[in-house]
Amino acid sequence: MAEKSRRILVTSALPYANNSIHIGHLVEYIQTDIWVRFQRLVGNDCTYVCASDAHGTPVMLRARELGVEPEALVDRFRTEHQRDFAGFGVVFDNYHSTHSPENEALVTDIYARLRDKDLITRRTISQAYDAQAGMFLPDRFVRGICPRCKAEDQYGDSCEVCGSTYSPSELIDAKSVISGTAPVERESEHYFFRLGAFEESLQAYTQSGVVDAGVAKKLNEWFQAGLQDWDISRDSPYFGFRIPDTEDKYFYVWLDAPVGYLASLQDLAARTGGPGVEDFFAADSATELYHFIGKDIAYFHTLFWPAVLEGVGFRRPTGVFVHGFLTVNGEKMSKSRGSFIPAATFLEHLNPEYLRYYYACKLGPGLDDIDLNLEDFVNRNNSDLVGKFVNIASRCAGFISRKFDGQLADKLDDKALYKDFVAAGDSIAACYERREFGRAMREIMALADRANQYIDEHKPWAMAKDEAQLPRVQLVCTQGINLFRVLLGYLKPVLPSLADQAEAFLNAGTMNWTSSRQPLLKHQINQFQPLMTRVEEKSVAAMVAQVRESASPPAQPPATEADDQAQTISIEEFLRIDLRIGTVTKAETVDGADKLLRLSIDLGSEQRTILAGIRSAYSPADLEGRQVVVVANLAPRKMRFGVSEGMVLAAGSGGEEIFLLSPDQGAGPGMRVR
Ligand code: MSP
Ligand code: ZN
Repeated sequence: MAEKSRRILVTSALPYANNSIHIGHLVEYIQTDIWVRFQRLVGNDCTYVCASDAHGTPVMLRARELGVEPEALVDRFRTEHQRDFAGFGVVFDNYHSTHSPENEALVTDIYARLRDKDLITRRTISQAYDAQAGMFLPDRFVRGICPRCKAEDQYGDSCEVCGSTYSPSELIDAKSVISGTAPVERESEHYFFRLGAFEESLQAYTQSGVVDAGVAKKLNEWFQAGLQDWDISRDSPYFGFRIPDTEDKYFYVWLDAPVGYLASLQDLAARTGGPGVEDFFAADSATELYHFIGKDIAYFHTLFWPAVLEGVGFRRPTGVFVHGFLTVNGEKMSKSRGSFIPAATFLEHLNPEYLRYYYACKLGPGLDDIDLNLEDFVNRNNSDLVGKFVNIASRCAGFISRKFDGQLADKLDDKALYKDFVAAGDSIAACYERREFGRAMREIMALADRANQYIDEHKPWAMAKDEAQLPRVQLVCTQGINLFRVLLGYLKPVLPSLADQAEAFLNAGTMNWTSSRQPLLKHQINQFQPLMTRVEEKSVAAMVAQVRESASPPAQPPATEADDQAQTISIEEFLRIDLRIGTVTKAETVDGADKLLRLSIDLGSEQRTILAGIRSAYSPADLEGRQVVVVANLAPRKMRFGVSEGMVLAAGSGGEEIFLLSPDQGAGPGMRVR
């Protein structure tokens, strides 16, 4: 690596700030972090920025549902995400937010430049509108029967059963997810970015090696389908930045989201005085820019984003690195199977470096999905990291401390073997550079096998019994520890925390990619501490059980008898639902909520407040003194109008057709229902 140091800006996609990070997201952040750490180890100047993606309808609605301001929701998740990433050793130079003054200034400026170049057009379109909620509905907020295969409860843009795509107006019996009412069509003027103007230049750009072959293929399909103008505006109410010179139009979240990469960089530069937007984004910048993303957002990053950058006269990404999706045990992540594992839950049960290593083993440069097989996860870590890699050090360290006061010999026993290990560094580095992490791990583990073979052949434990052989023991163990050290350097991007501990043990400072070209000889090492323990199957099982338990029951009742059978629950599951008799002691209307009544309910041992959507069928006077059936162990739910501590059971289809269940004479508050 004699070339001069490169200046590189790296990003991972900005996580939406309305949900927790799970192990699927972590594929990306771990992949990026490994690459960034590798670049730094080989001496490149690499900056890694990220941010919370704050805007859009889902964030707005989630905040409403929780009864908080969207800014507060974003702050909460931003803090949580940073904590989770840090827990997995994913270290950013900066973690900003798209809802920031930097981002607003940047996106406003970018928009103005595009408009001045005549790249923005306006046109009136007709869209699904929820008259009750008073808002336009994104496709995902309309559900109904698929117009092609007639599957029920499908999204407004595509059917998960037959895979066809369509517009929400084609859905049969469409309903707004927000109010449950049928959407109407309504017109509104929208702003469009003229993506079509970039067709030729995008074709040339995307075929110039910026994306992997699989992505290039996908891009060809998109080019063949033709590039449509891109709708970059949304109507109020919307959580986002208002478009200048409009009353109530907002930038679509996907316009300002990638600009968030620049905003994060700018915020960092302002604090550190380091290189900023000018340095990295000027059209003639000599720096490199890479975006790591998942395949679901490739269109935005390989077409829209480069076109916007070109439109404003900025440089385009050097590479867009697209990874596939995570499956667990060969299936889509699922809460009920216990495989939809939040980052924080993983950390409660397992060492994060197991996941970093496992993903490294599975990752390549392409967009194939990657599978986390939990059994393989246990075996792979135990056999590779504990059984092969750490084992090299633990087999040698004891002799060096006990017999030689921690002192390594003054020469290597097998110089040629050591040279081979060092020489492998170039090929392993090339693998890291090309994101062939799986290949890198295999090469490293093949070397670990050779190191263990060397120790097996020389049997220091046998020689140590014979005083006369002691100098040989020191030589062999010195060789072993030096081989371990070479591999440690190679694994450092993947296992940063293990590397810290091992560096403390080796007592020779912080390693970079080439430190191990010089072996440690006549050198004092520290007492060996176990660097990593085996993955316990029972920890994995406990984690899965915890996820499964927190899974909420299916939202819809089963539709057919066959479904009914498939979805039976056990008696234990049924008994987990704590149904109690309660007496309504007070009922009142809720200001601003025309569907809700606030009920105070006496459960015998305690008093509960429950917000019930029954106002269309009951008036408060009907209810006071009446007995109802309450789900007493439902987790409290924070709603816009306060916390609801349970649920009252009722039959009926809604509206005036709601019939509260109540017990026969003789039942009293607190009595259990079964
Ligand atoms: N907010 C957008 C990105 C804006 S970038 C300017 C977004 N956020 S996300 O939270 O939904 O996803 C963040 C990243 O995680 C995306 O690159 C996405 O592809 C990736 N993943 C989310 N779920 C994933 C899996 N199950 N498996 C692998 N990657 C996944 O998209
Ligand atoms: Zn269908």
